[in-house]
Amino acid sequence: MLSWDDFNQEETQNRGPESKLRKKSAETDNSQQTKVQRQNHSDKSALFGKKDQPDQIQQAIADLESLDLSTGIEELEGSAMRVKVDDKRMINCRADLNQLVPFKYDWAWQKYLDGCANHWMPQEVNMNADIALWKDPNGLTEDERLIVKRNLGFFSTADSLVANNLVLAIYRLVTNPECRQYILRQAFEEAIHTHAYQYCIESLAMDESEIFNMYHEIPSVAKKAAWGLKYTRSISDPNFKTGTQETDQELLQNLIAFYCCLEGIFFYCGFTQILSMGRRNKMTGTSEQFQYILRDESMHLNFGIDMINQIKLENPELWTDEMKEQATQMILQATQLEIEYARDTMPRGVLGMNAAMMEEYLEFIANRRLVQIGLPEQFEGVSNPFPWMSEIMDLRKEKNFFETRVIEYQTGGALSWD
Ligand SMILES: [Fe+2]
Ligand SMILES: [Fe+2]
Repeated sequence: MLSWDDFNQEETQNRGPESKLRKKSAETDNSQQTKVQRQNHSDKSALFGKKDQPDQIQQAIADLESLDLSTGIEELEGSAMRVKVDDKRMINCRADLNQLVPFKYDWAWQKYLDGCANHWMPQEVNMNADIALWKDPNGLTEDERLIVKRNLGFFSTADSLVANNLVLAIYRLVTNPECRQYILRQAFEEAIHTHAYQYCIESLAMDESEIFNMYHEIPSVAKKAAWGLKYTRSISDPNFKTGTQETDQELLQNLIAFYCCLEGIFFYCGFTQILSMGRRNKMTGTSEQFQYILRDESMHLNFGIDMINQIKLENPELWTDEMKEQATQMILQATQLEIEYARDTMPRGVLGMNAAMMEEYLEFIANRRLVQIGLPEQFEGVSNPFPWMSEIMDLRKEKNFFETRVIEYQTGGALSWD
């Protein structure tokens, strides 16, 4: 814990025995220090009259005197007028984007606050039991080891793809400061997730290059990455601009690809497999890392869905029948890729699950994603074969979730979904 007392003590100690008299009061110290600074300043002024000042300082002063304020302000995004709530828009906004308030999209600001309140770090999770189990030749079956490796392989790069899409593509194109505030928070959370996977890989002494290269080398992993990248390629071009029907729809497609499909479908087979291990008391540290990540991801997904629906509301002309059909196709394709991934990672039944159950679960998830963005369900009569997943996601019911933390929570934030 940082304390000003320590700081003052350290300062005093550093000054040596001759200044012990000053030890009594830190305030006296500070005021004397300020006096010394002022003295130094006036000494310099006396030494260099304005004309005698060194060339570099004179140059700096001259440059500041010729600074054209109006040019600087024009370069800022949006008009320089005071912003009113009605001026704000999700995309193609002309109001100043550097004025956070007044808020228009309270849901975005609230998610930013909730994300900050749920801050966590991978090192807080105890990995000792996982290390012992992973090293024990009889600790896990080959099928269980495959699940751990494949998922660390997929997720360790998937979160980088999501983070890149956020900061290199959509941040610039979403023209609303409260949404941008959440996007920055989300980007940091994606960095924490990549860190968490790296932390698991390092703790378990896995072959790092094998795991981090899986998105090139293992077809079921590579296909998911390639599918996502297809939707970020053109909009992450710095010359890409929204403002036409075609480009606005392209941005909407990207949001559907990354939020509904990548974060909303591609993560769910892996989350279910790893959390299923944790429920059976295996790889409990890795499983706990995934629980924290799942909590963050649920919020990312909900934020993305709110953004998509708000853009549709403000720009109804974008939500054409063709666009609806495309969005449906994207969700169906993502579901098929995730089913393929489930078959690849679970060639046999394992941990009370099998590929057929996972297929039904993914179809159940796909139906939810479709409905969340206002499209009809595509899979009839499917139900959730893993109701415990919904319970884990609803952490208000998960009373023991934070009891296994190994160090004191540093930010003191509220740990709840509310
Ligand atoms: Fe993530
Ligand atoms: Fe995410």
